[in-house]
Amino acid sequence: MAMGRVDGRVAVVSGGGRGLGAAICERLARDGALVAIADIDIATAEMQAHRLREKGCVAKAFALDVTSEAQWESLYSQVSAALGRVSILVNNAGIAAPGTAEDTELADWKRIHAVNLDGVFLGTKSGIKAMKEHGGAIVNISSIKGIAATSFSAAYDSSKGAVRIFTKSTALHCAENHYNIRVNSVHPGWVRTEMVEEGMAKLEDGEAMMAQIRALHPIGRFGEPDEIANAVLFLASDEASFITGAELVVDGGYTAQ
Ligand SMILES: NC(=O)c1ccc[n+]([C@@H]2O[C@H](COP(=O)([O-])OP(=O)(O)OC[C@H]3O[C@@H](n4cnc5c(N)ncnc54)[C@H](O)[C@@H]3O)[C@@H](O)[C@H]2O)c1
Repeated sequence: MAMGRVDGRVAVVSGGGRGLGAAICERLARDGALVAIADIDIATAEMQAHRLREKGCVAKAFALDVTSEAQWESLYSQVSAALGRVSILVNNAGIAAPGTAEDTELADWKRIHAVNLDGVFLGTKSGIKAMKEHGGAIVNISSIKGIAATSFSAAYDSSKGAVRIFTKSTALHCAENHYNIRVNSVHPGWVRTEMVEEGMAKLEDGEAMMAQIRALHPIGRFGEPDEIANAVLFLASDEASFITGAELVVDGGYTAQ
């Protein structure tokens, strides 16, 4: 394989089994990273790892529930033993559910924040411990919803907004302590992954809503998983060596309006 932009680096991608996470795993692996595909759905993660190995990449599946601090701690030991010391972490795992500020149940609010926000915090906390001696890069997958809200996904938007500012706090902490760990967030526009398709399938007027959502992207279409993965690769690579605490919007102009 030709020299890649993250050659020989060990990357952990949470929620790497499908959707954007799967595309991120493939992009990093094709550029030389040894990829740990960490997912609560181990069968999907195994399938993705197998698919990448068939393409000549180095990839291994690991079971991880991002809401468990103990599982994160154990993941870093397992990955270090299997692939080597970790220097890239992509906090990608996330869940979504509709609900306004008025009708969201507290249990749903907590579940969404547990995965989307606590999961990023726990991955980052143990990631800093694993990387601070030798340096690395953390990329948190937020959303356009972390910048511009909608009325119908209050808990999701709240969790993604929190990821945006937590990223900046962590970037400052790492910089001030000279850890050589850069921390940035990526804010994708809408991409038709299983998460989106499953959500829309539950709605009577799902396709009409998808057309409306597509129209909110001035570029005139949804994003593709690879377009998000390219941004992650850039931030994870040395090409972004002076970039930390930044938010990279990949949204076809959605938030420019
Ligand atoms: N698809 C979009 O339009 C879009 C837009 C902006 C941001 N995002 C964000 O991108 C990320 C990936 O989204 P996607 O569309 O690929 O979703 P997806 O549902 O297709 O994939 C999510 C993956 O995360 C895993 N996961 C869920 N809960 C987990 C947990 N507790 N621990 C470990 N793994 C867990 C799932 O098993 C799955 O493999 C999410 O954070 C999402 O909020 C997506």
